[in-house]
Amino acid sequence: MLAFNQSGKRLMTRMISSHRAKRTCLAIVLAAGEGTRMCSSRPKVLHAIGGKTLIAHVLSAAIEAGGAELAIVVGPDRADVAAEARRLAPQAQIFEQRERLGTAHAVLAARKAIEAAADDILVMFADTPLVRRETLARLRTALSEGAAVAVLGFTPKDPAGYGRLVMNGDDLAAIVEEKDATPQQRAIGFVNGGLMALSGNNALAILDQIGNANAKGEYYLTDAVAIARQMGLKAVAIETGEDDVRGINTKAQLAETEAVLQGRLRAQAMEAGVTLIAPETVFLSSDTKLGRDVVIEPNVVFGPGVTVEDGATIRSFSHLEGAHVGKGARVGPFARLRPGAKLGTDVHIGNFVEVKASTIEDGAKANHLAYIGDARIGEGANIGAGTITCNYDGVDKHRTDIGKGAFIGTNSSLVAPVKIGDGAYIGSGSVVTKDVPADALMFERAELVTKQGWAARFRAAKAARKKNT
Ligand code: UD1
Ligand code: MG
Repeated sequence: MLAFNQSGKRLMTRMISSHRAKRTCLAIVLAAGEGTRMCSSRPKVLHAIGGKTLIAHVLSAAIEAGGAELAIVVGPDRADVAAEARRLAPQAQIFEQRERLGTAHAVLAARKAIEAAADDILVMFADTPLVRRETLARLRTALSEGAAVAVLGFTPKDPAGYGRLVMNGDDLAAIVEEKDATPQQRAIGFVNGGLMALSGNNALAILDQIGNANAKGEYYLTDAVAIARQMGLKAVAIETGEDDVRGINTKAQLAETEAVLQGRLRAQAMEAGVTLIAPETVFLSSDTKLGRDVVIEPNVVFGPGVTVEDGATIRSFSHLEGAHVGKGARVGPFARLRPGAKLGTDVHIGNFVEVKASTIEDGAKANHLAYIGDARIGEGANIGAGTITCNYDGVDKHRTDIGKGAFIGTNSSLVAPVKIGDGAYIGSGSVVTKDVPADALMFERAELVTKQGWAARFRAAKAARKKNT
């Protein structure tokens, strides 16, 4: 046990943080946006950055920030958004906002969840995917320190379109939406990032007082600040960077946000010991897992679901998705690993090799120009250039099983289902339609025909005919 007089401060800090950790939290994610400016048949929040939908990013941040209770507000007839929300967070309650009457109206669509009175309520926007859990934690800390309302403030290059934060010393006095602002208020550069934390004790009392007497005729969530102040409660603004509150309305903003996310993911990878030779050319997914001393050469793309173990090298122009790369393996240049590719230790997959739903066991090699689908390649086996597993008969997929230490000669077609035994040898250019026993040689050869002098005679005859015409 710590002696209070010596380490009192540390103990106090611990007591406060464990007390904070016990505070319950409801995260309300507003996903009822229209998203018309995306010019897409897909709802805005189902667009992806870093291989993950916008709403998925926001839900992960909410959960990481301690949002044990989740409420998601979707627009009418948005079964697709609700389905994605349910897939990502089966525990979440889903509410429908029938009419789009403003951000406070959207929050109140989740009234039932708010009535359960969590200590902290976080209101998040599903189109603002880069908010970090540390930033959400700072909002929650403000509540635990006595604020009834906490918002994120930032200073953009151009404040146009944002709600302005009217400060009174350290306290936040009000948020004024641009359309309702006086010229002096418009001159304020410190603006509202949109997300808000409300203390659960006061949330409904505040939200129920919000009206719609403003320029847009909407129920503004931002009015919560002035109302809290009138109730004698405290409101604060927590300053953050623009990236945390970057909202997406257009495809161009989607791309800008992707760029910011890629920057974060690359930095995290390098901090964890990955070598990125040209980081700006490597595209990662939010769930990409790269071990220590992994080297990624320029121009590599990681789709979702990739793990690369320590010491592996991914060479230029490779595309990986849903794949596992074992320790010390070498992939590429110009390799494609598709979902279900599992590479063991020290495997080599070279240029123009595609691997799908296949396990390549330790030390096996396919160095050039091959398709390996629905297969097992045994330990140390060698797959020659031009080898194809013919896994599809037009209707069904079939498996190819290649034993340990087998040697598949170049340009062989392995017509699945087929089994090549351990240590077997397939002669070049064979079409293998039958299982091959261990240590056997199988080859398919038509007789070679050699006609001495034939080419010279052929050319001479052609030349003579040309001369006569
Ligand atoms: C909001 C803030 C503004 C802030 C800005 C930051 C309000 C009133 N204003 O303005 O102070 O500077 O964000 O980007 O909150 N939504 C619904 N239902 C509705 C209305 C909105 O679900 O009826 C959702 C939207 O899908 C979006 C979020 O709430 O995810 C914010 O709405 P939006 O219309 O983008 O608010 P802004 O005008 O950007
Ligand atoms: Mg907006």
